[in-house]
Amino acid sequence: DAPPPFANEPPWDWTQSQVRRDFQQALTKVRTSFPVKVPLMVGGQKITGDREFASTNPNDMREVVGHVASAGRREVQEAIRAAKEAFAAWRDTAPRDRAAYLFKAAQIARSQRFELAALQVFEVGKSWKEADADVCEAIDFLEYYGREMIRLGTPQRMGHVPGEMSHLFYEPRGVAAVIAPWNFPLAISTGMTSAALVTGNTVVYKPSSLSPVIGWRMVRLFEEAGLPSGVLNFVPGPGSVVGDILVSHPDVAMIAFTGSKDVGLNILQRAHETAPSASMIKNVVLELGGKNAIIVDADADLDEAVVHVLQSAFGYQGQKCSACSRLIVLEENYDKFIARLKAAAESLELGPVEDPKNLMGAVIDASAKAKVLEYIQVGRSEGKVLVERSFGDPNGHYVPLVIFTDIQPHHRLAQEEIFGPVLSVLKVSSFDEALDVANGTPYALTGAVFSRSPENIDKAKRAFRVGNLYINRGCTGAIVGRHPFGGFKMSGIGSKAGGPDYLLQFMVPRNVVENT
Ligand code: SER
Repeated sequence: DAPPPFANEPPWDWTQSQVRRDFQQALTKVRTSFPVKVPLMVGGQKITGDREFASTNPNDMREVVGHVASAGRREVQEAIRAAKEAFAAWRDTAPRDRAAYLFKAAQIARSQRFELAALQVFEVGKSWKEADADVCEAIDFLEYYGREMIRLGTPQRMGHVPGEMSHLFYEPRGVAAVIAPWNFPLAISTGMTSAALVTGNTVVYKPSSLSPVIGWRMVRLFEEAGLPSGVLNFVPGPGSVVGDILVSHPDVAMIAFTGSKDVGLNILQRAHETAPSASMIKNVVLELGGKNAIIVDADADLDEAVVHVLQSAFGYQGQKCSACSRLIVLEENYDKFIARLKAAAESLELGPVEDPKNLMGAVIDASAKAKVLEYIQVGRSEGKVLVERSFGDPNGHYVPLVIFTDIQPHHRLAQEEIFGPVLSVLKVSSFDEALDVANGTPYALTGAVFSRSPENIDKAKRAFRVGNLYINRGCTGAIVGRHPFGGFKMSGIGSKAGGPDYLLQFMVPRNVVENT
């Protein structure tokens, strides 16, 4: 039977007091399970060794969310071997049957929505709403890619020459390494993993060391859905060990990575150092960073722009590759807009995200904090502080929310990805200049324009060269199936997640011709 048409998982309506009460209960319940004991999973076996690391709450480091087994070289090699052994049978499983595991996992995730989101509040410091959005996105990926594989799973007849039957079809590549980030700990892990699985690859999955408990919950969703042993293997541990082997191992056919530009470029280089004995060239899919801009045109609806800019810049503490970190404002409106932005930013509630009134809490870890603080120092010398709001306490990785004005396009604050709650404002005198500034970084991920001028909107559609451009909307929060997500230039290689081309990267095309 064909599944019903794809529909996005609707987020909770937080205005309902019952929803808020239920979520509060989920937080309390999830907390009683801490510290969660997380094993490795290799060939269907759960392994706990003597090496362990802790995952802690960024808003209060004293809270240990999980004790996580740490994979060493041997376990990673065994995981690759297990995935290789499971490959042939999984490859030969019908696409529709593979999709059924994704639909089952989606159904299980739906029944655990509160719990999966509550865990994110504690492990990665997402606000209630952001945590819920991540879980919805994970469910969307499962439902969307399942349907996509059913579509792509039917061989396509090529040409109509009498006496010739020519068919194009797709086959999986082999063992896929999935190396995932912490900032969308369920959604992006599930997106990359489900894409690899449904296309018939077997997977060795390395979660971020900052979100391994959520990573483990994803593995359990597939386990509960009945995925055969060895098809999905789980190897948390340090990038220098686990990532290193996954990237260089000759039996890994492809790598799907989402994370920083530096790590991504290193993976690309390592993956393509092909040994003389290698039997394949690895395919590498990279989703990297951004230095995303929002342009506020001279005739923009300023009230609307303020709300979207703040959400895009400071939602999840600015820790999204899609986050707005540059605000480009036309001079006609500059003073008026900046005054409103300042007032609105000063009225935001900040503090531990366990409390739903707070838009923004702590950043992910000590090194993120140090990096943000360093950029704030750079900003003080490059521009002027418009807003600086310190909050939090020494038990969490808190950094101030800062907005700088008087930033110039060549400044470091206008060029380098900060991945934190720091927004740089640049003033321009024409819409053309705004577009030049917007395009003037090595990244091309997201962008947005607030304007009521059809001419400028048209110009932006053509000339604001980013992977995801939004008109009169903020630049974060792409929705699976509606806003296929991903960039180019230094923002990554590969086609867009949650879009119709994504699965093709996980497969090789074959053509078979029969003379009849
Ligand atoms: N897809 C996310 C967004 O659009 C970023 O990874 O915000």
